[in-house]
Amino acid sequence: MSFNIALAGKGGTGKTTVSGLIMKSLLKNDFGPILAVDADANANLNEILNVDVDVTIGKIREEISDVPHGMTKDAYIEYRVQEALIEAAGFDLIVMGRPEGSGCYCYANTLTKKYVDMLADNYKYVLIDNEAGLEHMSRRTTHSPDILLIVSDPNMRGILAAKRLKDLSEELKLKVGKVLLIVNRVPESGLDQRVYDEIDKYGLTLAAELPVSSDVIEAEMSKESVATIPDDDKAFKVIDGFLKKYAVK
Ligand SMILES: Nc1ncnc2c1ncn2[C@@H]1O[C@H](COP(=O)(O)OP(=O)(O)O)[C@@H](O)[C@H]1O
Ligand SMILES: [Mg+2]
Repeated sequence: MSFNIALAGKGGTGKTTVSGLIMKSLLKNDFGPILAVDADANANLNEILNVDVDVTIGKIREEISDVPHGMTKDAYIEYRVQEALIEAAGFDLIVMGRPEGSGCYCYANTLTKKYVDMLADNYKYVLIDNEAGLEHMSRRTTHSPDILLIVSDPNMRGILAAKRLKDLSEELKLKVGKVLLIVNRVPESGLDQRVYDEIDKYGLTLAAELPVSSDVIEAEMSKESVATIPDDDKAFKVIDGFLKKYAVK
């Protein structure tokens, strides 16, 4: 069985960055094999991991017009979807992408989930960088996340948004091992006591406080993979410690 980590949180909180740092930690500690999944319609996990992507689930789905004789369209799509598995340095990557034209990517989403489900057991870790909401996670999959990792801004509104996501995961009856909170961009002076109180009030489990990292900022500015930041970067050290505590079987 693979260990599945799914990221959630408002846009811009740092989900993709945290995914990149988790990948760096998994690779550094030789915790492979790893499957990274970019389930955000505005895919950019590949940029953070420095992988060129020219094939996505959404794109394959769009390209399919002629279904071979004797095959159902669904069976053919499921077969073609295998082309979307990208082999990178030390891990594999699947990108959902957004089908061009029509705005709905529900089908690409369903396909991605099905395919990830099919593949999951070939990996030790499956890391899913999600888009902001959770609804798309609702249709049941056999591999529900061991950890639903909610990333929040270091303020009251951020914690409220995180709480809502936790509630939503319960409403949607997502089968989740643990719901954990990471507060990102914690200032050097630390978190305001009121933020801790808010976290307690909502019964959230604060698993890590991620500082603002100049290495992460520099990697972003120079369009480098976040995996290239030094091992002694303070944000990376926090994620490395977090994984060893919560995600090592
Ligand atoms: N701890 C951090 N220190 C410095 N910059 C950060 C940190 N976390 C995120 N960022 C930056 O904030 C921006 C948004 O982060 P991103 O991971 O793309 O958010 P999301 O995936 O949730 O939309 C990116 O430019 C990223 O480099
Ligand atoms: Mg993102």
